[in-house]
Amino acid sequence: MPIRINPSILAADFVNFERELNSIPTADLVHVDVMDNHFVPNLTFGLQMVKRLQEVSPLPLDVHLMIDDPDRFAPGYAEVGASFVTFHAEATQEPVALARTLRSLGAHAGIALKPGTDVTGYLDHIDEFDQILIMTVEPGFGGQRFQESVMPKLRTVADVVRERGLDVWLQVDGGINEKTIVIAAEAGADTFVAGSSIFATGDPAEQVTRLRETATAHSHAH
Ligand code: DX5
Ligand code: ZN
Repeated sequence: MPIRINPSILAADFVNFERELNSIPTADLVHVDVMDNHFVPNLTFGLQMVKRLQEVSPLPLDVHLMIDDPDRFAPGYAEVGASFVTFHAEATQEPVALARTLRSLGAHAGIALKPGTDVTGYLDHIDEFDQILIMTVEPGFGGQRFQESVMPKLRTVADVVRERGLDVWLQVDGGINEKTIVIAAEAGADTFVAGSSIFATGDPAEQVTRLRETATAHSHAH
C-alpha cells in the first residue's frame, strides 16, 4: 500500500508560497487549508489564491475545504484544477451529489469528518469518494495535539475499505509527527497531512522522507 505525505502550507510562510512549494519535492501532494471564518473560527485564503497556487505548484493540490455551503463553493476548486477537493460532512446536505459533481469536473472527491462526527452513515456510500479525511484535531488551527481517541473510527473505515477492496485513500490531518504517524499508520491511514512537523524544521524535504519511511514501516498492506 503506497504511503502519501501531504505537507500543509498552513504552516508555511504565507508571503513566500512559491519558495515553500519548491521546498518539498519529496512530497506527494500539497495540502491547502481553505477556511472561511464561519465553518471554523479562522480565515486563510479562497478560490483566487488556490487558482494561483495551482498555477505555480510543481505538485498536485489536495484542497481541504473548511467552509460552509460546500455544495455551492466546492466545484470552483475542481474547476481551477485541484487534484483532490475534500469538503466537510458536517457542512453539506448532499455529500454524494457533491462528490459526483466534483468527479464530473475531473477532480478526486474527498469527505472530511471532525473528531466527533460518526462515520456510520457514510459507509454505504464510501465508493462515491476517493478520499476519507479523518480529522485528528478540531479543524481550524495548526499546531494542535493529535487525538488518539479517533483511531477506532479510522480502523472502522479501514476495515470497510479493505473488505470491499476499494481504492479510497484514508487521510489523517492534525498533530501528525514522527510519533503520532506510527499510531495512525497502524490504525490504517495511508495518507498523512503534516504542517508544523514539516515546515517548522530546517529541512522540510528530508522531514517528508523521514515521515514516509516511518509510516511505511508501520502500515499494514490493504
Ligand atoms: C487544521 C488543518 C490542518 C493543519 C495541520 O484545521 O486542517 O491541515 O494544517 O497542522 P498540524 O500538522 O500543525 O497539526
Ligand atoms: Zn487540513
